[in-house]
Amino acid sequence: MAQPRNVLLGSLIIVMFVISYTSANNILVNPMIGKGSHFYTSAAIGEQLIHRGYNVTFLLGSAFENHARSSRYGHMFHWEVFKHPIPTQAVHDMFANLSKLISDSARDVTYELPVQSVLQEARLNDCRALLEDEALIGRLRAANFSAVLFDYTWVCGAMVGELLDLPYFVFFIFPYSCHVTSIEGSSFHPAYIPSMMTSYSNKMNFKERVINSLVYTLLEKILGPNLVAPYKELTLRFGIPDPLELLTNSKLWLVNSDFVGEFPCAFAPNVIQVGGLTTRAAEELPADIEDFIQGSGDDGIIICAFGTFLILDDSNLHVIRIFAEAFDRLPQRVIWLLKTPPPFPIPANIKILPWLPQNDILGHPQTRALFFHGGQNSYYEAIYHGVPVVVMPIFGDQNDVATRIVHHGLGLKLDKGFMNAENLYDALHEVTTNATYTKTAKRMSSAFQDRPMRPAERAAFWIDHAIKHGTNNLEIPVHTLNPFQYYLIDVISFILVVVFFFFYIVFKCCMLICSKACNCYIKSKID
Ligand SMILES: *[C@@H]1O[C@H](CO)[C@@H](O)[C@H](O)[C@H]1NC(C)=O
Ligand SMILES: *[C@@H]1O[C@H](CO)[C@@H](O)[C@H](O)[C@H]1NC(C)=O
Ligand SMILES: *[C@@H]1O[C@H](CO)[C@@H](O)[C@H](O)[C@H]1NC(C)=O
Ligand SMILES: *[C@@H]1O[C@H](CO)[C@@H](O)[C@H](O)[C@H]1NC(C)=O
Repeated sequence: MAQPRNVLLGSLIIVMFVISYTSANNILVNPMIGKGSHFYTSAAIGEQLIHRGYNVTFLLGSAFENHARSSRYGHMFHWEVFKHPIPTQAVHDMFANLSKLISDSARDVTYELPVQSVLQEARLNDCRALLEDEALIGRLRAANFSAVLFDYTWVCGAMVGELLDLPYFVFFIFPYSCHVTSIEGSSFHPAYIPSMMTSYSNKMNFKERVINSLVYTLLEKILGPNLVAPYKELTLRFGIPDPLELLTNSKLWLVNSDFVGEFPCAFAPNVIQVGGLTTRAAEELPADIEDFIQGSGDDGIIICAFGTFLILDDSNLHVIRIFAEAFDRLPQRVIWLLKTPPPFPIPANIKILPWLPQNDILGHPQTRALFFHGGQNSYYEAIYHGVPVVVMPIFGDQNDVATRIVHHGLGLKLDKGFMNAENLYDALHEVTTNATYTKTAKRMSSAFQDRPMRPAERAAFWIDHAIKHGTNNLEIPVHTLNPFQYYLIDVISFILVVVFFFFYIVFKCCMLICSKACNCYIKSKID
């Protein structure tokens, strides 16, 4: 009796497998050239797409081909690699040079523009190399993809989508989700939403609102278009729409923020919040790290992680000394991410490591605080695990992340220019001893986790939904309006003219009636 049933079940499973195998949708993911958080955030989405039965191919630059050999993702995804127009070593040298420039503590923010312009030129050259690689484009065409998922930072991914005649979806890894999606119809109001790079919160005084509005207009109308304008040469050559249109042609926007840690605003329906893509439950730690943490007893540990934004060289030696001096005074032990150990003796409560399983350490019950630069992914990892922070922003969006941290009460901000051993110790002491910060962190953590889906699952769900059902019902037709129509200037002008004529006619009538009445009155007097 049981046997036929098993056979039936077996063949049913085989049939289902064949159906799901042959109808597997292929998705192409372009995480820019594959560097750092651009890769890890999209890999988290890719992993969930695999769970939904998709076949996922990553397209990245040869300098980051090592991801194809990673134990976690190597066999999970397919890989397509384009060659940079410069040697691989030169790509790494460029990033190392930029890290050095950024982390040089003697400098102020004036390095931002040179860094951006170097990156801008490198990206344009990479894009040209990618589109000119006919063999690669041919392989991509043959793979029969259903959609392209690309990184907002590199519009080239959308150009590949156009070239293959596929719908494309965009993901945005920085905190300014309300700002960048205002071109999609999200409601961005400079009165209560801070523009990028202002470091304002959503409560601004008059002066801040003036600056905020000007910055928004400047970025929106001048700087933003200028960033993609150089790609026009390529779009003309390959017969695809103007680079300015490519972002607004994106069907779905996945933004790396969450209202638990972000300022609230109203999103267009095709904008989905997936903040905290890299967050996940802590996994077991390597034995040496676990032993070090266990040895800290009730005092626990603090993590210090600045990624590539603080590297050890002559210009930074004094910063490294200040850190060590402040850490030495703490009752906690400190796990410190630093590629090269400093050339002076390190206090016994510090463990220096060239690489950290940061998410797993944050999830350890003995972790008391995170001291970091304000990276968006680390911010959400701290929220997820309910760990208070001290933030010292160095570059780019980090000042804005720091504002969000202070606004939500997750921790304290230190100014890089005024940091010394005293105030660093004070800040770390305050967040680890004043229970307000831990309480806030736990509250944010439970709000963040109390959802039907994790961020990466939500991202994969919406990609699947958009592929199956399209996004026409989600798109606000803002792009079809010109500025006069969008700001209702035509309508307001029309109404003003009508009102003006109405009052003009009323006035004229009154004059007429008055003069008639006066005439009658004068006449009757005379009579
Ligand atoms: C391409 O993939 C779709 C499913 O995504 C499938 O319906 C179609 O038959 C495939 N075409 C070819 C030529 O493989
Ligand atoms: C998955 O995509 C790759 C192209 O990157 C292709 O070679 C492979 O055949 C696809 N697998 C399935 C099951 O569709
Ligand atoms: C990096 O800096 C070194 C020396 O400072 C210079 O020789 C080299 O050309 C730079 N490399 C790149 C790719 O910018
Ligand atoms: C703890 O921190 C909160 C928020 O910054 C502050 O209002 C409070 O005074 C602090 N408590 C103590 C005991 O310092």
